[in-house]
Amino acid sequence: MDLFSAMKDRKSARAYLDKPVLRKDIDEIIGFAGLAPSAMNLQPWEYVVTHGEEKNRLVRRLIKAREVRQVPCGPGTIRPLPAKYSGRTRKSFFLMEPCIAELTKSFSAFIEMGSCSFYGAPVAIIVVIDRVFPKIRFLDIGISVSYLLLAAHAKGLATCPIGLITAYSEEIADSLNIPDEKEILLGIALGYPDHASPANRFKIPREDIKEIFRWYD
Ligand SMILES: Cc1cc2nc3c(=O)[nH]c(=O)nc-3n(C[C@H](O)[C@H](O)[C@H](O)COP(=O)(O)O)c2cc1C
Repeated sequence: MDLFSAMKDRKSARAYLDKPVLRKDIDEIIGFAGLAPSAMNLQPWEYVVTHGEEKNRLVRRLIKAREVRQVPCGPGTIRPLPAKYSGRTRKSFFLMEPCIAELTKSFSAFIEMGSCSFYGAPVAIIVVIDRVFPKIRFLDIGISVSYLLLAAHAKGLATCPIGLITAYSEEIADSLNIPDEKEILLGIALGYPDHASPANRFKIPREDIKEIFRWYD
């Protein structure tokens, strides 16, 4: 698969087959994530991978924490979003909602429960960074995560980045023995996509290129 096709075709999957992912494939995908460039070659990314009974234990813990705290899926901004951004989210909601409605009545419950259970994927990856780093290093992590998502896609696997679980960082850290000096930035579901599920039927569009760049000459 060439890089441009991978970039165009990759999409987040929210339903997975009950099919294990080989350890060597996970190693290879994480290896690609580690090839990303980083400021001063710091390579500040760290990936905590869990599967099998350990992943199930983490999911049970997250679901329990969600039952208590019910953190909604939102942009987490300090002010209401300008219309330009909220419009993009609304557009994707209108695309996703009719498909999710075939599975369950509540869209938000689907996303919140699904996120906390890594949408049933056999592998859950937790992305962490040492707190010694300033927030600007999150940028390096984002680049590495992009490599990971594309590498997984190129191997016929699917992913879903899951930011929502950071609301339950304490439970994740406790469950996986992640020390205090590490900050949890993201979860990633990894597995073989269930193409038959309505949850994977849509492809979220992007803005026209003219909306995202300015050209000066
Ligand atoms: C940093 C980040 C956090 C995300 N968090 C969640 C999440 O908590 N739950 C979820 O279902 N999707 C989550 N997503 C997936 C986005 O909704 C998805 O990437 C976006 O709608 C574009 O769709 P696509 O990935 O299918 O192209 C997240 C994506 C990113 C990059």
